[in-house]
Amino acid sequence: MNVAIIGCGYVGTAVAKCWQQKMTLMITATTTTPERVLELQNIAQKVVVLQGSDRNGLESVLHGQDCVLLSVAPNRGSSYKDTYLQTAETVVEAIKKSSIKQLIYTSTCSLYGDKKGVLVDEETPTEPESENQRILNQTEQVLLTELKDKLHVCILRLGGIYGVNRELVKIYSRIAGKTRPGDGSEAANWIHLDDIVGAIEFARHYHLQGIYNLVDDANLSSREIIDSVCEVHNLPRVTWDTSQSSDRYYNARISNQKIKDAGYKLIHPQMLF
Ligand SMILES: NC(=O)c1ccc[n+]([C@@H]2O[C@H](COP(=O)([O-])OP(=O)(O)OC[C@H]3O[C@@H](n4cnc5c(N)ncnc54)[C@H](OP(=O)(O)O)[C@@H]3O)[C@@H](O)[C@H]2O)c1
Repeated sequence: MNVAIIGCGYVGTAVAKCWQQKMTLMITATTTTPERVLELQNIAQKVVVLQGSDRNGLESVLHGQDCVLLSVAPNRGSSYKDTYLQTAETVVEAIKKSSIKQLIYTSTCSLYGDKKGVLVDEETPTEPESENQRILNQTEQVLLTELKDKLHVCILRLGGIYGVNRELVKIYSRIAGKTRPGDGSEAANWIHLDDIVGAIEFARHYHLQGIYNLVDDANLSSREIIDSVCEVHNLPRVTWDTSQSSDRYYNARISNQKIKDAGYKLIHPQMLF
């Protein structure tokens, strides 16, 4: 089986390492950075340097593939529109000329917007608030509507990503001892890299289609997580200034029931501090 990873960064690389273990998968990975080619050649049979707007390049990469993972994120100085939407539109055109049977796209739970902390699932309407959120919403729509009659499209809406080299302590240590706006009661909605890889492989193997949220079971608030990180790593505690409103741009508790009902078992249902 031929698999392509468009955008082989933190998530794409981890997925490539997993797929490399399966002797039956031939991996093609893309990067925009020529200096990354050597590194990626350790985890993919073929590495291609391309921008998501490169129609001929994408047609050539996607030709003969069975499954494609789209996992791009903007590099410094790049816009959401160029990175997500333009790449999705170009991928759609290239897929229409291919025999690909499955597309998996890593989206984000932040699309739900401010739901005042209530529990949301995949049926809940998204409420993008910023221009970038609207672009991410449009990116999902392009992939879902343009390709629905052609192949299985699986959208995984990820929570905040942590894992090896992106440990919670690295993410939160810079705010240790500081005062944060709000009370920290918003649901934090994290997902471990191992589960992102696990769910992407599950989606590939079982040909999942439609939208699936991917967060862990921990259901902790930002304050609970920051308190635990500071306690476990012996860092000064964070205090909260309730006279200011929170700077968090989305506030919803995310249900992960749909992907669990499909049969996916979380590797890290609780958070690793
Ligand atoms: N970070 C989070 O907490 C979070 C939360 C929810 C969802 N997500 C989503 O999770 C996915 C994976 O994130 P990640 O952390 O693995 O991102 P990452 O490490 O930044 O990797 C992104 C990849 O996309 C490539 N890329 C950037 N611009 C491109 C373009 N215009 N055309 C083609 N490729 C391009 C990059 O190329 P180079 O190799 O040249 O750098 C890189 O390989 C993303 O879709 C992101 O939106 C992230």
